[in-house]
Amino acid sequence: MRIAACIVATAALLAACSQKQGIAPERMADAIFAVIEADRASYTNNVVNRLQNEEKVITADEHWKDAKALPLPAQMMRMGAERVAEKEAGFNYALLSLWAINKQNKPRTELEKQGLQFVIDNPGENFYGRETLGDTEYFTAIYPDVAVSPACVSCHNEHIDSPRTDFELGETMGGVVVRIPL
Ligand code: HEC
Repeated sequence: MRIAACIVATAALLAACSQKQGIAPERMADAIFAVIEADRASYTNNVVNRLQNEEKVITADEHWKDAKALPLPAQMMRMGAERVAEKEAGFNYALLSLWAINKQNKPRTELEKQGLQFVIDNPGENFYGRETLGDTEYFTAIYPDVAVSPACVSCHNEHIDSPRTDFELGETMGGVVVRIPL
């Protein structure tokens, strides 16, 4: 009886403790990435690849407003990231690459460089680290950004500003950085 009571009390204590501590940053970052990745793959496959590459009804274009075209997948993601940043939701995210078309999307911090190289060298794995920027410490997670659709590959390989022309379907083309202040 005593042992059973003790187990119940310990479980209650652990539950209270984990509630107080909230969700671990790694789990939070993984959940955020799952949503970003799902939206990004769905948009690229079901909107851009279908309408531009397969049915040829409309193109995706960097100057989508003037060209009356679809925004690029990277632009869709940035629009979301900017809205999240405005809300001060307690995290931020960005799409980066070592072979960036847009030089603004190159890694800036040492940890970003290290993480991008890691996800390229270790397909299917994520990279987690901590870094101090300004006077804030961050939990920084970097996830592989994979060519999930033929549109990813053809567009990057043919783009005039792309430093690479040999991307293949299924390859890691860059990384999604999710940063959570601790
Ligand atoms: C129709 C063209 C097009 C398609 C389709 C496309 N991209 Fe891009 N991608 C671009 C352009 C152009 C940029 C730079 C845009 C910017 O930052 O404003 C970019 C940005 C990126 C970046 C950030 C680094 C960089 O190159 O600037 C990554 C990583 C990336 N794309 C991967 C992918 C993946 C993976 C897919 C498929 C899921 C994809 N792209 C689909 C054209 C495309």
